[in-house]
Amino acid sequence: MADSLLKMAINAPDRIFLGIKVYEAGIGQLINKAHKYQLNNLKIIKEDAVKILTNHIEDNNFNLFQLFFPESWHKKKHFKRRLVQTDFLNLLSHKMIKSGKIHIITDWKHYAIHMMTVLENHPNFKNTQNAPIYSPRPKHQPITITKFEQRSHRLGYDVWNLIFINEK
Ligand SMILES: C[S@@+](CC[C@H](N)C(=O)[O-])C[C@H]1O[C@@H](n2cnc3c(N)ncnc32)[C@H](O)[C@@H]1O
Repeated sequence: MADSLLKMAINAPDRIFLGIKVYEAGIGQLINKAHKYQLNNLKIIKEDAVKILTNHIEDNNFNLFQLFFPESWHKKKHFKRRLVQTDFLNLLSHKMIKSGKIHIITDWKHYAIHMMTVLENHPNFKNTQNAPIYSPRPKHQPITITKFEQRSHRLGYDVWNLIFINEK
C-alpha cells in the first residue's frame, strides 16, 4: 500500500520520489495520505514501469531504483515474465545516473539467485558487496518494512537484498 514510499518521501523532503505500479489498488489511499502530509516531492503513476522508463524518463535521470518484492513467477514456463532480465537492466542503466544504485528485495530464493546471476554478469552493474553475495538490509535508507516483507517475516521466509551500483 506504498507506506514505505510515503515514509521515504516524508523523511527526505529534499528528494523527489516517483512510485510506479500497474494496478490501481492503494493509489487513492497514497494520494490522500500525501495530501494530508502536504507532500510535494512524491509522484505516483499507474502504468507499466518499463513503458514509463522507456518513453517518459530521460537518460541519466535518477540515482536510486527500488524494486521491492517484484512478482517472482514461480513456474518455469513463466520465468520469461520476470522483470529483472538483462534487457531491463540495460534500460535501467541508461536511465540512471552513473554511480546510481539499484536495490531489489525478494523472498523467493530462486528469483534471488536469478537476479544475482544477471546482475553479476551485467557489464554496467557492480555489487556493493565484494563477492556475489546478498546485502544486509540497508540501515542508512529511510525504508520501512513493506507489507510483503512483513508477510515474509511472519511466514518465516528469508529475505534477500541485492544492492548494485551503476558503473556504466
Ligand atoms: C508482490 S507486489 C509487491 C508490492 C510492494 N512493492 C511491497 O513490497 O509490498 C508486486 C507489485 O509490483 C507491481 N508490478 C509488477 N510488474 C510491474 C511493472 N512492470 N510495472 C509496474 N509495476 C509492476 C504489481 O502491480 C504489484 O503491485
